Amino acid sequence: MAKAKSIYFCNSCGHQSGKWIGKCPSCGEWNSFEEEVISKPSAKDAGNINMIKSVPTAIQDITSDKEKRIDTNSPELNRVLGGGLVKGSIVLFGGEPGIGKSTLLLQVALNLVGKRILYISGEESQQQIKMRGDRIGISNPECYLLNETFTDNIFNQCKEVEPDIIVIDSIQTLYSDVIDSSPGSISQIRETASQLQRYAKSTNIPVLLIGHITKDGQLAGPKVLEHMVDTVLQFEGDRHYGFRILRSVKNRFGSTSELGIYEMQSNGMREVVNPSEILLSQRDEITSGVAIAAMVEGQRPLLIETQALIGTAAYGTPQRSSTGFDLRRLNMLLAVLEKRSGFKLSTKDVFLNIAGGIKVDDPAIDIAVVAAIISSLEDVSIPPNICFAGEIGLSGEIRAVSHVENRISEAAKLGFENIVLSKYSLKNINLKNYKIKVISVSKVMDLVEILL
Ligand code: TYD
Ligand code: MG
Repeated sequence: MAKAKSIYFCNSCGHQSGKWIGKCPSCGEWNSFEEEVISKPSAKDAGNINMIKSVPTAIQDITSDKEKRIDTNSPELNRVLGGGLVKGSIVLFGGEPGIGKSTLLLQVALNLVGKRILYISGEESQQQIKMRGDRIGISNPECYLLNETFTDNIFNQCKEVEPDIIVIDSIQTLYSDVIDSSPGSISQIRETASQLQRYAKSTNIPVLLIGHITKDGQLAGPKVLEHMVDTVLQFEGDRHYGFRILRSVKNRFGSTSELGIYEMQSNGMREVVNPSEILLSQRDEITSGVAIAAMVEGQRPLLIETQALIGTAAYGTPQRSSTGFDLRRLNMLLAVLEKRSGFKLSTKDVFLNIAGGIKVDDPAIDIAVVAAIISSLEDVSIPPNICFAGEIGLSGEIRAVSHVENRISEAAKLGFENIVLSKYSLKNINLKNYKIKVISVSKVMDLVEILL
């Protein structure tokens, strides 16, 4: 073993330095450097995996990866992966603790009947995983469980078992003796991930990796981990709600605009094929402050309920609170509404909630948010057969949004009779194709007129 040496790593981006620095020169983060003791691997003992030597091949002689995709037996996961699992790829599943990463991957492993899976866990015992498997209620005789965190042992077991797919729960528990620092440290994560990467590439066996997420939503471990893997899937959702969204953040073999929707149930994850119906199902009576937005998440149209409650501020400073929607954007919309349509909102408490615990980025939800606010403020309810899609600009203009036809046809499919859209969205769209009435608006005032 070579001489031990200390290196400092930036917690946030993985930048490496020989001495401690207050501010990371790479990502600009303050006070993020941590010391780690490292013994540099000699060229000989770095990753004792039998590597297959690669030789140059003419591009037309290389077979395309179409037939090399493994069907995961899960339409939602296949969709997010871009059509199945690519052989030799590393897929990182990130998500907060308790969101359901272990459940999802065990379920995937059990569902892959006909393939041999090695499920390696450093977090739970075999009995605990078995209990979880019983709960999910699927059995796969070719699914092997292994409790191991030392990478050399893992690769040795892989040689024994000869799996078709490897699952690792989680990268933060793995360690390699090439490096002295503890499991979960940045240098261990880097080293073990690169060993796995070499293993996957040389054997053509896909590796599904679980990774934790820190409080501020970053994948724990540096960004380098994201660079090393082929695909990064983020598991999101409010723990108190059943819905989980599997979003593709990076994908070398597919589009990053895909997403899969699941519902956590007592017997594992259920795939949600038609999310809109569930997100809208809880409306029996019409109340004020509710508006339906025709959104698109990734490529999928989704109708979702936005709820607003406006009250008179009891204390000096009015409260603004928002769940599932960016608070700064809410403040901006309130300012636009006050300036362009004369509603007095500066002395009001405003609470906004997106139903289902889903976090929304699509700017097309703006006019539904504003509609819900006006509806609550004036205490007039919005008819349940109308939905909204449009972005609001600072001068109160309602802007065009993407995927308009997707939104219109989803709303029509779910039985909505009216959809409010920006008039700029309607160029090149043949409305005769749809059974729904389109109401076009161009300014916030037009929206107010429709509602009141
Ligand atoms: P888990 O997969 O352990 O999360 P992670 O690996 O991301 O930390 O999921 C834990 C939660 O899921 C736990 O609160 C219990 C719940 N759960 C169900 O609701 N149904 C189930 O069938 C299973 C196995 C777990
Ligand atoms: Mg887990």
